[in-house]
Amino acid sequence: MLYPRPLGSTGLDVPILGLGAGRIGDPSLDDAVAGRILNEALDLGLTLIDAAPSYGVAEERIGRHLAHRRHEIVLSTKLGYGVEGVPDWTGEAIARGIDRALVLLRTDRIDVAFLQSCPVETLRRDDIAAALADAVASGKVGVAGYSGDNEPLDAALESNRFGALMVSVNIFDQAALEHVTPVAAERGVGIVAKRPVGNAPWRFAARPTGDYAEEYWLRMRAMGLELGDRWFEVALRFAAWAPGVACSVFGTAMSERLSDAVEAVSKGPLDDETVGAIRESYHAHGAAWRGEV
Ligand SMILES: NC(=O)c1ccc[n+]([C@@H]2O[C@H](COP(=O)([O-])OP(=O)(O)OC[C@H]3O[C@@H](n4cnc5c(N)ncnc54)[C@H](OP(=O)(O)O)[C@@H]3O)[C@@H](O)[C@H]2O)c1
Repeated sequence: MLYPRPLGSTGLDVPILGLGAGRIGDPSLDDAVAGRILNEALDLGLTLIDAAPSYGVAEERIGRHLAHRRHEIVLSTKLGYGVEGVPDWTGEAIARGIDRALVLLRTDRIDVAFLQSCPVETLRRDDIAAALADAVASGKVGVAGYSGDNEPLDAALESNRFGALMVSVNIFDQAALEHVTPVAAERGVGIVAKRPVGNAPWRFAARPTGDYAEEYWLRMRAMGLELGDRWFEVALRFAAWAPGVACSVFGTAMSERLSDAVEAVSKGPLDDETVGAIRESYHAHGAAWRGEV
């Protein structure tokens, strides 16, 4: 496992880098390539793999290509929606969603199950909390988590119902570092950082209108940091070594990128001057920026 750390007080140890399987689930990606990347990720020590029903065929591919290595993996997925014939965001959607994921992932236990970015009213609902608590009590789920940002993230932390939170943390999205990660650390709530390189906005010369990275591209321009050819390395080291972050889930379907990512985080934390410049630039420009869900 690559630089193992405790995930809060959950009892799970997680690597500093995990694989977000969003890109792996793309049905247009060759299945053999997907299988190779999943196995390479484990070989490189990225032993937390994060899936979701919304990531195409990710759960099915993880089950098919990694079931024989299940004991090496901290497996996480998302809940709340996507069960055929069941209304989303109901207790039944949680319970049946867990059973559905267990079948696809070919396992009898999901290590961390995150409610995926539902609003405050939903994450506070008793039927949803009860279904999740039942799954933990039965052992189908190890840790109940919430994945999201802003007010719902604050409410999830305050509720004390979740042992782990998945939040956006990157150079362009530091809101959670201000208010959430310090409190989570005090309470033993484990933090998984999503979007750790901010969807790599530096790869676009002009504003990528309509692209997932558009908002972060605008923030990158506003912040005015000059990182030249070091963007990827600096971005990943900033997120992975951010105080309070246990694991950063990096999303790629390219094997070179996986090894580059490992090489980057293996250089250790950024120097204080670089972190200071990134934090200062965010404070100067990003006071009103919200976490990107
Ligand atoms: N609400 C939620 O629950 C939620 C929301 C967002 C994300 N997540 C989790 O976080 C994971 C990561 O999120 P993410 O993929 O959106 O963010 P990310 O890891 O910050 O960015 C990955 C994207 O940037 C590209 N990229 C990375 N480095 C690059 C480089 N040097 N040059 C060019 N392109 C580069 C990758 O393309 P290639 O594939 O071509 O490498 C990929 O499209 C997801 O898979 C998921 O597990 C969860």
